Amino acid sequence: MSNTNVPEEGNPPEGEASQAEVPGSQTNVTGSTAEGEAFSEAGGGEVARSPSAGAGSKTEAQAPGSVPGSTPGSSPGSSAGKSKSKSKGSTTEHASSAGKKRSRSSSRKRGDLDLPEAKIGFIGAGKITEAIVEGLIDFGQIQANQIHVASPSGKNMDHFKNKGIKTCKRTLEIFSRFDCDIVFLCFHGAVIKECYKGSPDRPRAFCTNYIPYMKHPLYILSLVSHCSSDEIQRTMLNPDHPDKYKIEFHRIMINAGCAYGLGVCAIDCDPDSKHLSAPLRTLLSRIAKLEFVPKDQIDAACATGGYGLAFAYYFISAMADGAFKVGLSRDMAIRFAAKTSQCGAQTLLESGVHPDQLRDSVIAPGGAAIEGIHSLEKTDFSFAVTSAIEAAYQKEKDLADAN
Ligand SMILES: NC(=O)c1ccc[n+]([C@@H]2O[C@H](COP(=O)([O-])OP(=O)(O)OC[C@H]3O[C@@H](n4cnc5c(N)ncnc54)[C@H](OP(=O)(O)O)[C@@H]3O)[C@@H](O)[C@H]2O)c1
Repeated sequence: MSNTNVPEEGNPPEGEASQAEVPGSQTNVTGSTAEGEAFSEAGGGEVARSPSAGAGSKTEAQAPGSVPGSTPGSSPGSSAGKSKSKSKGSTTEHASSAGKKRSRSSSRKRGDLDLPEAKIGFIGAGKITEAIVEGLIDFGQIQANQIHVASPSGKNMDHFKNKGIKTCKRTLEIFSRFDCDIVFLCFHGAVIKECYKGSPDRPRAFCTNYIPYMKHPLYILSLVSHCSSDEIQRTMLNPDHPDKYKIEFHRIMINAGCAYGLGVCAIDCDPDSKHLSAPLRTLLSRIAKLEFVPKDQIDAACATGGYGLAFAYYFISAMADGAFKVGLSRDMAIRFAAKTSQCGAQTLLESGVHPDQLRDSVIAPGGAAIEGIHSLEKTDFSFAVTSAIEAAYQKEKDLADAN
């Protein structure tokens, strides 16, 4: 996480800085951002903001920033037994749009983001954006009109437009025109690596220009694989005035289970610590269970938690085929295969016992289970699964290095 200073008085208006002031070339910003605490604890600057378009508004039963229940990940949004038919929670419109703007402005002034007033941006409109957006709307107590999605080709935009989400092709507009508070970076690493081509010390801005000096804290969550926080920030911030930004930046991995409020999210700091601002903790906890993973292991977590989810479905489907083959009805077969996998995962997590030990504990000598395990071993099952994780990791790395 990196926090930089609050913009100074007399800065250009929001949304204009990068256009007006960005020099033709960029200097090295390494070291310009200092490790610091998250904003909600650190407080924010008393700065004015322009009365830009109001976000959709709804009232939360829960205090902003607090995670009901207890620890992150145990939010109501991620509690057990949810289904996509879950109601979206009650919402109450504020009395007037003026009230909305006042409320958003004042909470932003304090550097204290109020989630029902927050604008949430996505750069990249692919698979993972779809899943997070769905999770935020269905389980995150976020309304579609709070969300903004940008991607250069605009080819997947109908999906988002149909939900009432604002879209654009110019990615910079997420920061300028839409003036978002929380921005998810959801594209492949090649986009960033490309900026370093020919000028490793002075990368160009990935959004065609540096992002504006926003007069409120900006929270950036990067899902970009195989790109460090520093590599990405150097393609976003004007190196001549890094002190004019106030950014909390995290690398995360979140899997597609977040569409059901049941995701797994790796984040580069202890989610219970002061290094993660309360609004981010609350928002992510509503759609996923948060787990600290060191920055240098986030890509491995993505291969396992992100793409491993597809392998888990594959395994369950294969197990269901076996169950069907020996006589269970199709529906029952899928249900039993899923429940058994869930039971295996849950007993392992709750007992803390090594999976091999648990496996041995359910195998009788000369019995049916060892016969089945032996059959799996004949197919090199263990090698195949290990290789699948490795292949996914390598493919994402290749995608980052492409161009
Ligand atoms: N899928 C998952 O389950 C998952 C899970 C965890 C993490 N991730 C990570 O999230 C990132 C995105 O994954 P994904 O599966 O969503 O990929 P994806 O479906 O291939 O989508 C990639 C998106 O990036 C956009 N893009 C391309 N060039 C861009 C540019 N210059 N500026 C801004 N956006 C640009 C594309 O826009 P156009 O359509 O306009 O080209 C597209 O919408 C990857 O780094 C991946 O490792 C994915």
